[in-house]
Amino acid sequence: MCGITGYIGTRDAWPILIEGLKRLEYRGYDSAGVALVKKGAISVYKAKGKVADLENSAADKDLSGTAGIAHTRWATHGEPNTVNAHPHLSPSGRLAIVHNGIIENYSTIKSRLQEEGYVFRSTTDTEVLVYLIEYLMQKQGKNLLEAVQSALREVIGAYAIALADRDDPDMLIAARKSSPLVIGIGDGEFYVASDVSPIAGYTDRVVYPEDEEIAVLRRGVPLKIVNLMNEECSHEVRPVPENIGLTGKEGFPHFMLKEIYEQPDCIVDCMRGRVDTSLGTVRLSAVTENAERLSTAKRFIIVACGTSWHAGLIGKQYLETFCRVPVEVAYASEFRYSNPVIDDSDVVIAISQSGETADTLAAIELAKSRGAFIYGICNVVGSSIARATDTGSYIHVGPEVGVASTKAFTGQVAVLLLLALNLAEVKGTMKPEAYHSTVKALLEIPDKMREVLKSDKGIAELSRTFTYAHNFIYLGRGFSYPVALEGALKLKEISYIHAEGYPAAEMKHGPIALIDTEMPVVFIATKNTMYEKILSNVQEIKARKGRVLAVVTSGDKVISAVADNVLDVPETLECLDPLLVSIPLQLLAYHIAVCKGKDVDRPRNLAKSVTVE
Ligand code: M6R
Repeated sequence: MCGITGYIGTRDAWPILIEGLKRLEYRGYDSAGVALVKKGAISVYKAKGKVADLENSAADKDLSGTAGIAHTRWATHGEPNTVNAHPHLSPSGRLAIVHNGIIENYSTIKSRLQEEGYVFRSTTDTEVLVYLIEYLMQKQGKNLLEAVQSALREVIGAYAIALADRDDPDMLIAARKSSPLVIGIGDGEFYVASDVSPIAGYTDRVVYPEDEEIAVLRRGVPLKIVNLMNEECSHEVRPVPENIGLTGKEGFPHFMLKEIYEQPDCIVDCMRGRVDTSLGTVRLSAVTENAERLSTAKRFIIVACGTSWHAGLIGKQYLETFCRVPVEVAYASEFRYSNPVIDDSDVVIAISQSGETADTLAAIELAKSRGAFIYGICNVVGSSIARATDTGSYIHVGPEVGVASTKAFTGQVAVLLLLALNLAEVKGTMKPEAYHSTVKALLEIPDKMREVLKSDKGIAELSRTFTYAHNFIYLGRGFSYPVALEGALKLKEISYIHAEGYPAAEMKHGPIALIDTEMPVVFIATKNTMYEKILSNVQEIKARKGRVLAVVTSGDKVISAVADNVLDVPETLECLDPLLVSIPLQLLAYHIAVCKGKDVDRPRNLAKSVTVE
């Protein structure tokens, strides 16, 4: 997954493209590049690394030009270096292309072109596509649009592309299939981007081309969209969603820390207009509008990836406990190829912060094709998943920039809880006292989160004592088991320390063999129905000289006496523990990564939005 952007109009393209790339850097940051089009020439600027490296390397160059395309890369085919960085040029240098996605049959096409004598410069799949387009122009006398249509009919895979033509500097072409693409319409100018963030601030009119549609962007001429068969396609011009744009760190050293600190306000935003504080009730418009469909569902299937999948595991417990409906939680990447037994009595809940995760989108399409009703839980307004679902609820936590998901996780958990509460009321499956006490306890969560954040300094100091570790184990039970998985994921993705999450009682079935004096074991050991059991599990680790760090409920004496270190969180209902316990685990991962000097916001090999399968 990569970010693409483009501009054609009357302004200088370079600053628009660079700013756009910065806003898209969450999609990948292995290398970056820009192609500027001027009459008779295409100038390409590339650099390994981040957009700032590209800016520095081009600082003394001629950057003039009012049309161009740009790319920030997350390598799929070919190592991240300057040669493999986009834009890629056609053999003659006439065309430049940027691409997000994967051309799956690139090697077949490449061999065919090599037999014709073409020599490739890079090892990317993208270069094959631009070579194919120029080949079709030269050998079959097609114009650029015809050649693009013909090439895209041949390729298998996913693409969002933008193309510039040295010989036609007044036109850009952009197309998509299974990768996101937005066209911004300005005054005699067009913007191209992987999402609306590079466009916001320049124009408030955008178009989202459908799969296998091609946008012809000619300077000063209205937008034209055609399909691969050259039939003209109608398009809806939509407003840019509100609250889009660049956010700053606001005094925090990293976005991740800022986002951890935002969580109390995020939960407030998440509940706003949904929780009636005086009545102690919950209303989600998606539930109100689809009450019959949702309340008669025979089964819910949650599909998601990564952190969102962890939130789904908690959501399963909410829906099963409160709504008495069976719930399955599937990795979207497995579900999409699993030939699931699913029909129109099922509701599929797709959870995704970005709303662009390719596997989750594919899982939705599969479930839809079998008649399931799709409920989306997304953060990014207007994202592909938000648009692909039948209904849904946004988590409303604001832009999440840090690659490690933090506030989106707690936002997803909160929305899943609201969904389960609302549905339980509709179905009559929850006792009114339990329903109201849960709503009341949820309303107290933001203040309790603020309380937890006060332990930040202590966690920072404690973290210094863990930098020696090469492995960590995170243990929890019940509602806390998915939080253990999430804690381990946070640590590994930003500190590069290997970490595993387990249900605590599973330790004795194998993993306990790993325990020695070097092994830190993080227990989620809050005061709840599992407390006594967890205490036994803590004892088992201590008996083998493991180093125990326990997250306990404030005032806890028993586990605190056994553990080597404790972090406490205020008391709440067991089902709400994940909202509080996540925070010390996020802070622990954050501070260990900082102590180890890692790039917390942009960890190696990762990207914020995973738009390839
Ligand atoms: O945007 P999504 O929620 O669909 O993303 C899913 C995962 O890629 C994401 O949660 C990933 O695991 C995060 N980097 C975890 O912090």
